[in-house]
Amino acid sequence: MPHSPARLIPEGFSAIPSLDAVPFVSVVGDLDASKLDTIALLVTSDGELPPGIALDRKQLARAGFEAEPGSTLVLPGGERPRVLVGLGPSGELDVTALRDAAAAAGRATTRFSRVGVRDPGVGTSDAAAAGQALAEGVILSRYRYSPLQRAPKDTRLERVELLIDGIDRVAASRGVRAGVITARATNLARDLSNTPPGHLTAADLADVAVALGSRFGFDVEVFDRAQLIELGCGGLLGVNAGSAEEPRMVKLHYSPPEGSTGHLGLVGKGIMYDSGGISLKPSDPMHLLMTMDMGGAASVLATFTALRALRATATVTGWLMCTDNMPSGSAYKLGDVLTARGGTTVEVKNTDAEGRLALMDALVLANEEGVDAIVDIATLTGAALMALGPSIAAVIGNDATLLRRVKEAAATADEPVWELPLEKRYRKQLDSDVADISNLGGPYAGATTAALFLAEFVGETPWAHLDIAGTMQSEKDESWRSKGATGFGTRILIDVARAFQPFR
Ligand code: BES
Ligand code: ZN
Ligand code: ZN
Repeated sequence: MPHSPARLIPEGFSAIPSLDAVPFVSVVGDLDASKLDTIALLVTSDGELPPGIALDRKQLARAGFEAEPGSTLVLPGGERPRVLVGLGPSGELDVTALRDAAAAAGRATTRFSRVGVRDPGVGTSDAAAAGQALAEGVILSRYRYSPLQRAPKDTRLERVELLIDGIDRVAASRGVRAGVITARATNLARDLSNTPPGHLTAADLADVAVALGSRFGFDVEVFDRAQLIELGCGGLLGVNAGSAEEPRMVKLHYSPPEGSTGHLGLVGKGIMYDSGGISLKPSDPMHLLMTMDMGGAASVLATFTALRALRATATVTGWLMCTDNMPSGSAYKLGDVLTARGGTTVEVKNTDAEGRLALMDALVLANEEGVDAIVDIATLTGAALMALGPSIAAVIGNDATLLRRVKEAAATADEPVWELPLEKRYRKQLDSDVADISNLGGPYAGATTAALFLAEFVGETPWAHLDIAGTMQSEKDESWRSKGATGFGTRILIDVARAFQPFR
């Protein structure tokens, strides 16, 4: 197998470096300053200040700190500096505000590896949810991708102690444990997305999945080119045709230790690099982001690393559809007709609309498997980014109950989604003169026409599609998002999968 020069990879390189850099997080009854390098004090803009602050509200305001959400003030003095972090008004506190404040605390203390956080415990009737949000905020905000730098600038976060006033510590600890698991999974998805394409081929990702499966308790089955031909996965094979690297379909399976509340199918787009193929993308900054075109597959794989640890009660089966999309003498062409698993023929009118082609085979397989519902996640269309911007993902589906469940999980996770319609009137844009369907819609409503294409392959199964093209990466550090790949969708999927139950 020919390899690009980028395959001269440093010895010991890992595509999942943050997995073994998870901090130890605990809920404590008191902060032990001798074990900490710094303490962050979360402060509401009303009510009492945390104890031990020599300044009153007026003096703090003069120093520019009014406890606005996300604002910070470093208190000078001592070898262990303290940082005030604003929470805003106590009446408006929810888990998102707590996660935001914890993230601000994480960012205000980036030079330190042992961090204490004191939360006043207001607005947090659900101790477990509060603990989870605080753990997620601190860990996710401290994420940095640095395995390819000889001298990384970041200090590794090793230890976090959380003091939450007046809270049920057992419940809070349970939440913290969950938050460490969801944040670890999200950072794993970020690692995979941030890894350059030459360092993570489809075959490499399959190897990573196998290793994760034995470590985190799920089964992994890998399908190579020959097996994909056997299965009739003409979509994934078609997209792969121009590549020097083999494709892989990776099937993941988790079964709960006892009984099962239901069976969920998860499908992830794993385009390791999207050049556009023969419909080559221009060399603008957007093209550079196409190393993250496997963000959907990354979040599905990451989700599986959390299931056993969270004692998930549902059966979950996942399909990662992995290949790069390259132009070459053997590449698939405009006008080619691909045959999906199950026999549907697809006219290729644009080789850059490759994600839907790679996904269609997996949707058919998920249906054959008899899952109760399917959620797919994909960096599918620039149109989703145009419609909703970089903070909100599009969700489209055929089942109101499943869509409601996904929206709830998205709100809890602060991974915002907005529903776009599966408008049947636009289906005829996908008509083909030579095949059953074409892979290209018209110039408008691109996220919807992409979803209408996918809908052809899900049959009657309740299905929700997450288009994360806009949210897969962030241009700046912002709350739990760190610059670069965001791992968006991982925490939604974990929440939906954990205790999934069928509803029709
Ligand atoms: N991977 C891209 C979508 C994308 C765009 C992801 C921007 C992240 C940021 C996808 O494969 C693609 O190229 N879609 C085309 C579809 C079109 C040809 C119908 C698009 O959105 O332009
Ligand atoms: Zn594309
Ligand atoms: Zn793509």
